Parts: sequence; structure tokens; C-alpha cells
Amino acid sequence: MKALVIGSGGREHAIVWKLSKSRHIDKIYCCPGNAGISEIAECIDIDPLDFDKLKDFVRYEWVEITIVGPEQPLALGIVDCFQRDGLKILGPNSMASRLESSKSFAKDFMKRHKIPTANYSVFNSFTLAEEYIRLKGAPIVIKADGLAGGKGVFVASTIDEAIFALKIIFKDNVFGEAGNQVVIEECLQGEEASFMVFTDGHTIIPMASSQDHKRVFDKDEGPNTGGMGAYSPAPVVTEQLKDLIMDRIISKTIAGLRSEGIIYKGILYAGLMIKDNNPYVLEFNCRLGDPETQAILSRLESDLFEIAIAINDERLKDLDVLWTDKPSVCIVVASEGYPGSYQNGKRIEGLDKVKQLKDTFVFHAGTACRDNEIVTNGGRVLGITSLGKDILDAQRKAYEAVQYIKFEGMHYRKDIAERAIKRL
Ligand code: AMP
Ligand code: GLY
Repeated sequence: MKALVIGSGGREHAIVWKLSKSRHIDKIYCCPGNAGISEIAECIDIDPLDFDKLKDFVRYEWVEITIVGPEQPLALGIVDCFQRDGLKILGPNSMASRLESSKSFAKDFMKRHKIPTANYSVFNSFTLAEEYIRLKGAPIVIKADGLAGGKGVFVASTIDEAIFALKIIFKDNVFGEAGNQVVIEECLQGEEASFMVFTDGHTIIPMASSQDHKRVFDKDEGPNTGGMGAYSPAPVVTEQLKDLIMDRIISKTIAGLRSEGIIYKGILYAGLMIKDNNPYVLEFNCRLGDPETQAILSRLESDLFEIAIAINDERLKDLDVLWTDKPSVCIVVASEGYPGSYQNGKRIEGLDKVKQLKDTFVFHAGTACRDNEIVTNGGRVLGITSLGKDILDAQRKAYEAVQYIKFEGMHYRKDIAERAIKRL
């Protein structure tokens, strides 16, 4: 059978790679894909937001299911559009995707359903927002309401920083319509974890836990990025905490949506702050995380294609999802300047050597093929991911593999998974 994956990052490379292991799959398409993906899938040249063209393609090629990586097509209703024509697709519809595409919707929803999250207020005027910040003081968190490609959140440690963030959002209009409103919320302290589940709107199956590294520099310094590395499992998520997260957050969210007439099908991602062993929601995403997916899918033993079909058909209760006990570590290698501006087109060396390493996978993110060479084509370029007999072993293998990779200006964090190792 055939599958189509929408997206072009490391997450999508991991999805395509995992699908390629399925006994049911004999052809994968990816729209638009990247250089690494093109080695195992056929990359197609269709605008990923042109849903009608995608539907024509899927019908013409007899694609069994489409799997959506990024949030934008979900928010714009790709799932609604495919479902209207009875085409199988993995992801929530646009109403359900509001959990990610509108932070004020998500916060109001959590309040209605008593799901633990930081206290907040919503503003659509600079003046009222500024008054509120002066009243509450710092630290404080300012978030553009809509989709901002992971750049719309400002954790301000002073009032001046918070007001500067407001200016960026309201006056400079950097996020366009996504910045018409802001959510201002209490700053939570604790340890972060990412918790993702598969759900068909009724049955919920938790994935292995994981932890992202959002800041660009070691010791969590510097600006936020899309994610500089991840590991799985996250030891902060103990079995007891996992039960709490499922009871207080995930089940309540899926049931709460259902009570409001919304069936959530696909992947639900809760970005959590764990404070005194209690989980609080920082954000919801309606898709797999990047780079958490690279760490998690390398540990998935079950067939991803079967999971996707079971979610689509609302038969998830019939499925067992299995994971290897081996932990994984993913190190993101980025372009010089990232998360600020960067240049593309730098030749990448060493990929073939890393391919020969056992239990190590190179997931491409921002790469392209030019004149038979692989070159950089994005801020986050590669996600080098290793499995190990324990987390220390996985970390060692991943960093050894990174040593083979060379491109001008490359940088990566040297402390991915340190926090998990300190807990050993
Ligand atoms: P988000 O995109 O909402 O997950 O925010 C990005 C990052 O900002 C999170 O991973 C946290 O590091 C930080 N953050 C978001 N909300 C809060 C909060 N209420 N308190 C402290 N840090 C936060
Ligand atoms: N790694 C965070 C995200 O995918 O949003």
C-alpha cells in the first residue's frame, strides 16, 4: 500500500523512515520532503497547502492514508477537506486543532474543564496588556495567540522585557494576525516534559515520554528554538506521574472536547511543566513534536501504518503499541546563526560514515540536494539519533556520530540528555 506524508523536517523524515519499515507499505510519497527523505520516499512538488491538488494526487495514486506532520495544514482544515471525500488521513480537524492554533481557545478550554495550567488573561490592546503586566510584575510570560512557528512565546524576566515583547507583537506586528491577541500568563517554575498520545477520540494510548531542549545554548541559555535535541524516556515522568498526566490532563481534554461536540483524532501533544510532582499544561500541540518524534519513533516497535489506520478508523482499542526499553538521544545540528538568520547551501560531509553506525539514524531536517551533493537548507539541519543500552550509552553514540558531520558554521548543544543522566 501507499502512504503520503506532509512536511519537510526531521519529524517527517522519522515518520517516513518508520513507515518504510511497515510490512504493509510498498511506496511512500512526501510533500515536499527533503534530501534525506528523498532516499526512501518520492518527494512530490505540490504546495502542501493546496488541499484540492493533494486530494487529486491521493486519489490518482491510490494512496491509502495521508499523515500530516506540521500544524499549519491541520489548522487550515486539511483533515476536514480529506474527510469530506472519505479519504483516510491522520490528524485532528480544524476545530480540534484550535487547541494549538489559538492559545486563548486552549486556555479557556482548560479553565472550563479544570485542567491544570498557569493563570492567565487575554488582551487585544497594547495599553490594557501593559497595565496588566505592571500590575502583575515579572517574571511573566507573553504569548501571541495564533500560530507563530514556535517563536511567539516570550518568557520575560523583567517588566521591560515583557513590554518589549508586547511591542513586537502589537506594534511591529511581527506575527501578523497571529498577534491580534496575546495571552499573558503566570511564569511557572519546574522541569519541562513532552507527553504525546495517540487517540481516536475514544481510546488513548500514551507514547513513550520525552524531553525537548528549547534553548539554543548549553545550560538552557540563549533564545528559544524549535528544539535543539531530545531524549526518551524522560525520567521526570515516573509511572505515577504518567497516571496523573493521563487522568488530570489527557483524558479530561479528549472527553472535554467530545462533550463540546469535537472528536479529537490523531496525536495530542501536551507540553508540561512538572512542579512538585504535579503536571501543568504549558501548551498543546495537535501533532508530533520536533525533535521529540526523532527520539520517540526510533523506539517504536509497533507498525506506524497500522496505528495510523486504526486511529482513522476509530479502532485504536484493538491495538497494542510496543516500545523498546532502549533509551534514545537526538542531537540537532543547526546552521550558523540559527535561530536567527542563517545561510543555506553549505555542503554537508560525513553522512555516509554515520549511516554505517549501528543503532544510529540521521534524520534530515533542513537539507536539499544540489549537483549530487547534500547541502544545508534550513536552520535545523540534521537530527542525529542513537539508541543505547542506557541513556548514557545513547548519548555517547549520538555525540560520536555527530563528530563525523562537517559543514561550515555548524553548531549543536553539547549537553543533550545531561539532565536525565544526572538523575541516574
Ligand atoms: P510554548 O510554545 O507555549 O510551549 O512555550 C515555549 C516555551 O516557553 C516552553 O517550552 C517553556 O519553556 C516556556 N513557557 C511557556 N509558558 C510558560 C509558563 N507559563 N511558565 C514558564 N515557562 C513557560
Ligand atoms: N519540540 C516542540 C514542538 O514540536 O513544538
